[in-house]
Amino acid sequence: MSTVRDWAAPNPVTENRTGLIGRPVDRYEGRLKVTGTAPYAFEVETPAPPLYGHIVSSTLARGRIVSIEVSAAEAAPGVVRVWTHLNVPAQAARGARLNPRSQRASNPALESDRVEHYGQSVAFVLADTPENARAAGGLVRIVYEAEPADLDFLSSLDQAGPAPGEEDMRVGDFEAGYSASEVTVDATWFSPLQNHAQMEPCATTAWWEGDKVVVHTSIQMVKGGQHALAETLGIPSDRVRLFTRYIGGGFGGKGQSYDDLTLAALAAREAGQPVRVAYTRQQMFQATIHRPAVQMRVRLGADRSGRLNAMALEAVTHCARNAPFVEHAANFARNLYAAPHRLTGHRLVRLDIPHAGAMRAPGEAPGMLSLECAMDELAETLGLDPIELRIRNEPLADPETGKPFSVRQLVRCMQEGAQQFGWDRRNPAPGAVRDGRWYVGMGMATAIRGNFLLPAKAGLRLTGDGIATLTQGMTDIGTGTYTILAQITGETLGLTLDQVRVELGDSDMPPAPGSGGQFGAATAGSAAFETGMVMRRRLAELAAGDPTSPLYGEDPTLMDFANGNIVLGNRSESLAALAARAGPEGVYVEGGISPAADARDWSQHTYGAQFTEVGVDSVTGEVRLRRMFGVFAAGRILNAKLAKSQITGGMIWGVGAALSEANPVDPRYGSFLHQDLGGYLAPVHADIVNLDAVLLDEADDKANPMGIKGVGELGICGAGAAIANAVYNACGVRLRDYPLTPDKVL
Ligand code: MOS
Repeated sequence: MSTVRDWAAPNPVTENRTGLIGRPVDRYEGRLKVTGTAPYAFEVETPAPPLYGHIVSSTLARGRIVSIEVSAAEAAPGVVRVWTHLNVPAQAARGARLNPRSQRASNPALESDRVEHYGQSVAFVLADTPENARAAGGLVRIVYEAEPADLDFLSSLDQAGPAPGEEDMRVGDFEAGYSASEVTVDATWFSPLQNHAQMEPCATTAWWEGDKVVVHTSIQMVKGGQHALAETLGIPSDRVRLFTRYIGGGFGGKGQSYDDLTLAALAAREAGQPVRVAYTRQQMFQATIHRPAVQMRVRLGADRSGRLNAMALEAVTHCARNAPFVEHAANFARNLYAAPHRLTGHRLVRLDIPHAGAMRAPGEAPGMLSLECAMDELAETLGLDPIELRIRNEPLADPETGKPFSVRQLVRCMQEGAQQFGWDRRNPAPGAVRDGRWYVGMGMATAIRGNFLLPAKAGLRLTGDGIATLTQGMTDIGTGTYTILAQITGETLGLTLDQVRVELGDSDMPPAPGSGGQFGAATAGSAAFETGMVMRRRLAELAAGDPTSPLYGEDPTLMDFANGNIVLGNRSESLAALAARAGPEGVYVEGGISPAADARDWSQHTYGAQFTEVGVDSVTGEVRLRRMFGVFAAGRILNAKLAKSQITGGMIWGVGAALSEANPVDPRYGSFLHQDLGGYLAPVHADIVNLDAVLLDEADDKANPMGIKGVGELGICGAGAAIANAVYNACGVRLRDYPLTPDKVL
């Protein structure tokens, strides 16, 4: 496994002789998906006819179950079993770890009579069809004893306490620096609670083979899901085989497992038959995690030339009472702009509502909605162009740690973006541009998101048919993992894409961390690259040592790979022939990647600049996006089409965050007001008429051998702030309470 930075040597991937790296090839699994034949977790073939489970959710926010009446449900058509906390099979106590090095602790379902949030599982019905299970679920009668519940974030702000294990980050003396500043901004922004609403709900199909359970589930992390289930069942993890081959969206909401996984496994064991369990669309909103609301106070102090002297971003957010999670909305501010006096930190309010958790670009996504608007306000106060203000505060090294940047092309993103967008046509005076009844304005904001490399492995087999098959316990949440791994494998071995197969999402495969934190492509891709390099060395040594090979006796380190052959000078042999001689199993190798020893010596991020033009209806207050454009720098781009798709998808989420997405808590029940996409408003095609993104050429040689960074979360960062700034430029109204709905604009 490559663990040190030894990647200065000639590199077949950075040379890109097949031209596969970066090429906008179609998705490896795209045909299966668009023809409806990719088997998602709920749809996989089972070894015997399955039963169907339905989870019954609590209608109480906090309290206990006094009585639960299941006889009507048990007598309903097709019902096999009904479970409550009184008769659910034994599971490990919450938080237990059988294997102390397990990646996850146990997470039992229906564990007690306690109810801790609306939408918590309180009963489970197993039946012959999904319809019968769901219908019977409606017959379960529960009497609750309610307890007082804290449901409202803003009225609970006085209960905000420190985030566990965290302290504020202070550099210099913020208060002194701020009060000595010639020009200041002090304002507070609010970003509401948001939901993931993945197209595919969380779902599991499970069956047992002897004492081993096989589960197909929809989860972003293979090992995490395997271990969570093993710990919950109290069995060693090698008795859980977890598959997650196709995932209909994750976004952080499937970074963990839910009760569908546990209950499907328990029910399949008890019934001696495969079981399928899926959450309903409505359940997805409250039985899984959401992005919490965040209140953010920003204070900026600058001199008249626009140099920041003091900068503070203080965020207050919320989490479930017994499930601490911090939306790190202030963290990005630690790396973005120079200012000698700095203060950033988080406070947490505990509420009796469903669990808060990670959602696309946790931290930056809501956080940048504040600071990037505060910078716009400061620019206006100073009479400076917002880009010029940012350039004047561009740090030479990381503003808090002093570490050098690996690569930082933020200024170039802003300048190229400005040029391509036509930023020079912006009239800085708000309300000055009209188009009929519309006020028209432009806004910009920056984007920043961290870059991470985690340890990962991969397996690679070359068979006598000349096909290379990469296997990795990795996931593709719709982001393109299959495709980029095929491209990398093809390039390392000099093969075409139709000579490469990729198999993912099986806990028996060499482990990878999964998809999250935009580390997936860099991590899985680097492991695939290293594994391809191991295969090259193995094949070269095989050829050199095989008297029947034309390359026999030659120096393996001089051999090259191209067009399906291993080559030295004018001699060559096909990889197919070499693999065929190795036997029916061909040649199999494993390889992997770990962060380089000096990885933390660098401040390493992805960057971008977001530009928008909006119209604000002078009569209704409606905001319509007219144009949106971004320029991003995110390391080496593996597939231009898929990377752009990730970036523009993130930008569209930013449009939702700015203009429509919010889910208020119903103070009567502790439920969310919206439980479907009719009420929870994400942008649709008609909202996104003219949106484009450009990815700069970049390779970050401090990141990994190929210089890859992540793109999955960068696009949402700053996108909503650029819209809010455009709304101000259009109509002169500073709105700090997202989403910017017509009632607030008027
Ligand atoms: Mo992500 S929100 O870190 O899966």
